[in-house]
Amino acid sequence: QELQMNLEQIEKGGYDHFMMKEIYEQPSVIKDTYRGRLHANEGLIKMAGIDDNIERFSNAQRILIVACGTSWHAGLVAEYIFEEFARIPVEVEYASEFRYRNPIINDKDVLIAISQSGETADTLAAIKLAKEKGAFVFGVCNVVGSSISRETHAGAYTHAGPEIGVASTKAFTTQITVLTMIALRLAKLKGTLSNSDYHRYLSELEMIPEKVQEALQTNEVTKQIASVYKDAQNCLYLGRGYNFPVALEGALKLKEISYIHAEGYPAAEMKHGPIALIDEQMPVVVIAPKQGHYDKVVSNIQEIKSRSGKIIAVVTKGDEQVRALADHVIEVPETSDALSPLLTTIPLQLLSYHIAVMRGCNVDQPRNLAKSVTVE
Ligand code: AGP
Repeated sequence: QELQMNLEQIEKGGYDHFMMKEIYEQPSVIKDTYRGRLHANEGLIKMAGIDDNIERFSNAQRILIVACGTSWHAGLVAEYIFEEFARIPVEVEYASEFRYRNPIINDKDVLIAISQSGETADTLAAIKLAKEKGAFVFGVCNVVGSSISRETHAGAYTHAGPEIGVASTKAFTTQITVLTMIALRLAKLKGTLSNSDYHRYLSELEMIPEKVQEALQTNEVTKQIASVYKDAQNCLYLGRGYNFPVALEGALKLKEISYIHAEGYPAAEMKHGPIALIDEQMPVVVIAPKQGHYDKVVSNIQEIKSRSGKIIAVVTKGDEQVRALADHVIEVPETSDALSPLLTTIPLQLLSYHIAVMRGCNVDQPRNLAKSVTVE
């Protein structure tokens, strides 16, 4: 028993839970994800799975993305990035919905399947359906040799290393890293980004690991905030643009490990109903980086405050305006809007982790959940 305990402690790298270890691995595994692929100095992205099939991608009339859970959130971030960088129409679908609705697919389509485990039944079924209808299917997986990685025509591994915690953390940020590199590769090919923007994004992406390292320093402040809201019954997460999917992801993290009901929403949607929920019992996490529709998000914060909602704001380092309005502020380093999800998600991972620990939940194996949903 003692030996077993020690072995597990070694596997956890000294952290109390695999989830925390995996949150802290993100700076190094994002480097592993782009190693050999991102060559910022030469202005190159090299990905065999893309390069060997470049015509399929350059002729694609649209990109379909299918995934589940956190991987679906990564797909939503990718939609904004692909459309902004490569001007290719993107449709993101829950794999479970896609496979049963007799989707319109043709041989001009590229379908990207995102799956950490590479074993998710609904995602695998969606891939088979798309292949039958002639689409080119590209996989973004973390587990080498997994069913999905074998079923797809080509793919790119995230190289995040084993993710043991049921709640996906490093899988999410490494998936976004792979998808961002693909979007940049296609933008270069299609000339849809100016040379200066293209090179700027390459060097910004190269700096992400050190900025994630800096974002991890919000651990203490998120722990303090967690102690204030650990008994909340509900929580709202708001974001705009690139950070709307991050709001969904932050809410999923809280739901699945602390069992608090949480909902992610596009910030502007509040006035179409959900704002009726706001009262002093309702903590609202607002993702408000300087680069992303900032003024609009600030006015959303004011709307919530006027209804005595409690505001937990994720802001860009040095922000003063939101600090004057919010009840709690968590600062992350500045980066461009398109890359901000890689940073804004970090404090949300930490916040859900600390709340779950304070509630005595089984963080690594939450009730009723499996790491890989191989059933339909
Ligand atoms: C996320 O924290 C969950 N563990 C779950 O939603 C997961 O993202 C989903 O089941 C998809 O898994 P996959 O990436 O292995 O396909």
